[in-house]
This record gives sequence, C-alpha cells and structure tokens, in this order.
Amino acid sequence: MERFLAGIITASDKGSRGEREDLSGPAIAEMIEAQGYDVVSYKVLSDDEDGLYEEMVRLSDEVGVDVIFTTGGTGLSPRDNMPEATLRAATKQVPGISEAIRAYSLSITPRAMLSRAVSVMRNRTLIINLPGSPKAVKESLEYALPSLAHGIKIMRGEDGECARK
Ligand code: MTE
Repeated sequence: MERFLAGIITASDKGSRGEREDLSGPAIAEMIEAQGYDVVSYKVLSDDEDGLYEEMVRLSDEVGVDVIFTTGGTGLSPRDNMPEATLRAATKQVPGISEAIRAYSLSITPRAMLSRAVSVMRNRTLIINLPGSPKAVKESLEYALPSLAHGIKIMRGEDGECARK
C-alpha cells in the first residue's frame, strides 16, 4: 500500500508547558498510521499563532509532508488561533473537508457548530484542523479519512480520475 507522509501539531498552552498530557495528537497518530500514513513529526505547541504558522510552513516547505493534521485551538476562546495560523499558511482553501466534518459532527453534538476549523492546501501539502478533544478527533477522522487519500493523490498529480463512490 502507498504511504503518505504526515505531520501532527497539537495546540495547547498547558500541553506545551508540560502541565497536561496530550491525548489528541497520539489519537491522530494511531488512527492515521493504520490507514497508510507515516507520522514524521509530532509537536505540542503553545496557542501562539506565529509558532503554529511557522511549524506549518516548516512541515510543508522543509519536510515536505503530504498532510498536516492539527488538533485544538479551533474554538471561541481568546487563545484559539489555529484557523488564523492555517489561513496564513494557505495557498488555496479546501472548505469541503471542514464542512463535511462539521456536518457529520453535528449529527453527534450540536456543539460541533462551535468549531471554527478550516482545511487548506499549502502548495502540495493538505492542512486539516481538527477540534481539541480526543473524542472529537476520533469522530472527525473516522468520517474524513476514507476520502482523503484520493484528494492527496490528486494534489500530488497522481490520480486524475474521480471514480464515483
Ligand atoms: N466535533 C465532534 N465530532 N465531537 C465533539 O465532541 N466538540 C465541539 C467541537 N467539535 C466536538 C466537535 C466543541 S465542544 C468545541 S468547543 C469545538 O469543537 C472546538 O474545539 P477546540 O477549541 O478544542 O478546537
């Protein structure tokens, strides 16, 4: 099976200070590794927008990952900066992925409306925001993952045909 390169960024002020164990980043890693992704980088960063943006640029421009999954920082608190960092890194937007995750998540909890998550491309890297809790991460990925490989192949210029599924 073809493997994809992935980076994971957790945004958590407490996690970055070692005051809280990050369970969401490892939950992403476990789910995607079982689906053909190699996790080449995983970092827990503070909620500062600049640091999140710089890590996305590093993973895309220097490491060259196919996909970056982020967790946390998508809500309404003053320190939730993930969508802003992601939009700064974007060369194109891919709104359908976040629309689909929110639509599915709304069937589980109305609070899914409180996620401001976005999905974008930075050149040939797909960046997908996921909410912060391990539960939300699992629910989001279980819905989105099966469709992502096809999109990543098209982004890489490998797979032009959209077989109906
Ligand atoms: N999506 C799913 N699938 N399951 C959830 O439990 N929680 C919501 C939402 N999305 C949730 C979800 C809640 S309570 C919030 S506040 C937002 O995600 C934003 O989360 P974040 O600030 O941790 O990123």
